[in-house]
Amino acid sequence: MKNDTITNIDIVKAPSSKIKSVDFENLIFGNTFTDHMMVCDYENGEWQQPKIRPYGPIELEPSAKVFHYGQAVFEGMKAFRDENDKIWMFRPEENFNRINKSAKRLAIPEFPKEHFFKGLEALLNIDKDWIKKGFGNSLYIRPFVIATEPGVSASPGKNYKFMIICSPAQSYYTGEVRVKFSEEFSRAADGGVGFAKAAGNYGAQFYPTSLAKEEGFQQIIWTDANSHEFLEEAGTMNIFFRVNDTLLTAPISDRILDGITRKSLIAMAEVYNIPVEVRQISVKEIVEAAKDGSLKEIFGAGTAAVINPINGFGYKGEKYELPKLAESYATFLKDKLMKIQYNLEEDKFGWRHEVKQ
Ligand code: COI
Repeated sequence: MKNDTITNIDIVKAPSSKIKSVDFENLIFGNTFTDHMMVCDYENGEWQQPKIRPYGPIELEPSAKVFHYGQAVFEGMKAFRDENDKIWMFRPEENFNRINKSAKRLAIPEFPKEHFFKGLEALLNIDKDWIKKGFGNSLYIRPFVIATEPGVSASPGKNYKFMIICSPAQSYYTGEVRVKFSEEFSRAADGGVGFAKAAGNYGAQFYPTSLAKEEGFQQIIWTDANSHEFLEEAGTMNIFFRVNDTLLTAPISDRILDGITRKSLIAMAEVYNIPVEVRQISVKEIVEAAKDGSLKEIFGAGTAAVINPINGFGYKGEKYELPKLAESYATFLKDKLMKIQYNLEEDKFGWRHEVKQ
């Protein structure tokens, strides 16, 4: 990695802002983008200086490797505005480290830290009016890298684009969420790319998820590829089960994404004396717990969704409903986590990162 010091960020401002045309009270997740984007090219064996450009189409050759071999990785992050107009991110170093871990697995050159943080800071500053106050409002930040080199030979590209785009967000899921436990399809296998935020991990879920949707489920909980006996991860989230008063979640592995919300919840549960077991969770035990009433909650955890309670699940043609709890772990932990994110509570963990303005 050379050329990893930022000398100056070249900024071209959008001629006008779209912000006045946006209804911030009725956002659909991921449909609206801010006025600018960060772009950084990898050429001649090194990452060039990051640039800020008006958000808009990019031109690529039809033979660019990303289109043919899916050499693409991404991240999901959020920025929050507090009541004093300070802007915060949540554990951004974790995203930086993870995008490079994902990149390495996809033979994409690692991105320099200074490029990431200075580029992101410049972008957040230029588009800061898009980060609205209010508990639940955020700016979803999507860094991604694609292989841009033309040519359909099946080998890693020599040229890449690292970009960051931003989208104002409220909640990811609206309405109740029911999930299907996967009996046939798999998300990831040992030795594969399940741990990476590789674009293809998500695209490969669309078809099985559309079949599950026809049966009335919004998401799939993936089971291990070998036996389909163990519950691993949901489509866009890590997954937690509460049996009696214990929280269960699967250990990370090369099949499961090392979710930042997931590990934050495990740390918080420990502080708030919620018993947590990080271990393999069998479909059988969860079905039995649903039948005998000891299964109290299932919830997903991820940057976009934060914590999303799951109302029921389906397995082998049977449907199971979860009780509606007055005091759920999902509600408690989500509130605590968001209070840290929005600077409403002391951050004992050191997770909050202020964006310099
Ligand atoms: C995120 O939570 O940031 C994700 O990666 C989910 C995304 C696929 C919408």
